[in-house]
Amino acid sequence: MRQLLIAVIFGAIAAGAALLAFRSRSDSSNANKSVPPAMRPAAIDSVLESNRLTQVLLWGAGLTIFFAFFLPAYWFREPARMAAKEESFDEQSIERGKIYYALTTDQETGESNLRGKECARCHGVNAEGGSTEFLDPNTGQMRTVQEPELTTVFARYEEPPEGYEDAREFITETIERGRPGTPMPTWGNKYGGPLTEQEIDDIVNWLESIQVDVDIEEGATGDAIFNRLCVTCHGVGGAGGSAPAMQGGTEARQFPNIEDHKAFVKGGSKAGQPYGTSGMGTGGMPAWGTLTDEQIQKVVEYERSL
Ligand code: HEC
Ligand code: HEC
Repeated sequence: MRQLLIAVIFGAIAAGAALLAFRSRSDSSNANKSVPPAMRPAAIDSVLESNRLTQVLLWGAGLTIFFAFFLPAYWFREPARMAAKEESFDEQSIERGKIYYALTTDQETGESNLRGKECARCHGVNAEGGSTEFLDPNTGQMRTVQEPELTTVFARYEEPPEGYEDAREFITETIERGRPGTPMPTWGNKYGGPLTEQEIDDIVNWLESIQVDVDIEEGATGDAIFNRLCVTCHGVGGAGGSAPAMQGGTEARQFPNIEDHKAFVKGGSKAGQPYGTSGMGTGGMPAWGTLTDEQIQKVVEYERSL
């Protein structure tokens, strides 16, 4: 489409130039060069008022008719054109966000990505979460920190914390500011970080594009919910993985009162904050405010039965 347009424009320019060249050649052949065109004798009245006038009027009528059709047709296509453009801008933004999120060296192909900002080093190549060693500025000691997975982050903040309009605003600000006291660095220019607003917007657009569906169908059983939302970290049947194992009655010991167990699942963990009888939070356990009380009851009962 674009090539066609360029071809038409250049064709028109070439044709115009050829016409001008041809005209000036035929002019110079029969006119006295020393007399400027404006001072040469014009056509006689009978020519000006008949042939010449009809010619000019025909051109005028032709152009009027052309624009009468062209402008509405152009206008009619405008919304579709704008939508297509917007979509392609969004696609490009998502594509850029993916590049910024990635490692500077692709682990599989070894290709280097000079624009990568290494979010993947902590949050996982597919945003599945991860863990890193961190020198805690408060205690001066190294500790292992879990990085939250980011494929459900929009759903987890569907009801954003006080003072934020929606999940997007909260997530954007989290990335801009970082989380002081945790390994999550400050990224926004505004706060002295390395990324511009546009770059962060691109990353947030990419994150939004990879969100997984966390809606649990009505009446889902505890193990169905666990296998949808918890298994990636807690392992099949609660065998453990990046998150603690929960077999052999560990959960009933961790939370003797089931209400505490339910409250923990709903609210998630905070870095450095103890939970249950012997748990120490790293911030790696997401809050599951998206689940209904009934769904939390079921998944918690399932965990206690393992
Ligand atoms: C050095 C490790 C590290 C790097 C690099 C890092 N993060 Fe984080 N990020 C964390 C940790 C740890 C947390 C959790 C902090 C807490 O305990 O609240 C976090 C939290 C977040 C959260 C909030 C998630 C939630 O559930 O509350 C978002 C969003 C996020 N990071 C995005 C990013 C993006 C985007 C990048 C790259 C530009 C990035 N992070 C780079 C460690 C990291
Ligand atoms: C992104 C990984 C992740 C997902 C998904 C996840 N958890 Fe966790 N969970 C953790 C981590 C990590 C901990 C350990 C606490 C910490 O490090 O803050 C934890 C701890 C727990 C504990 C306390 C375990 C103990 O004995 O100390 C319970 C209960 C729990 N999660 C329930 C759930 C439920 C229910 C779901 C699904 C609805 C779920 N988790 C999904 C990461 C996850």
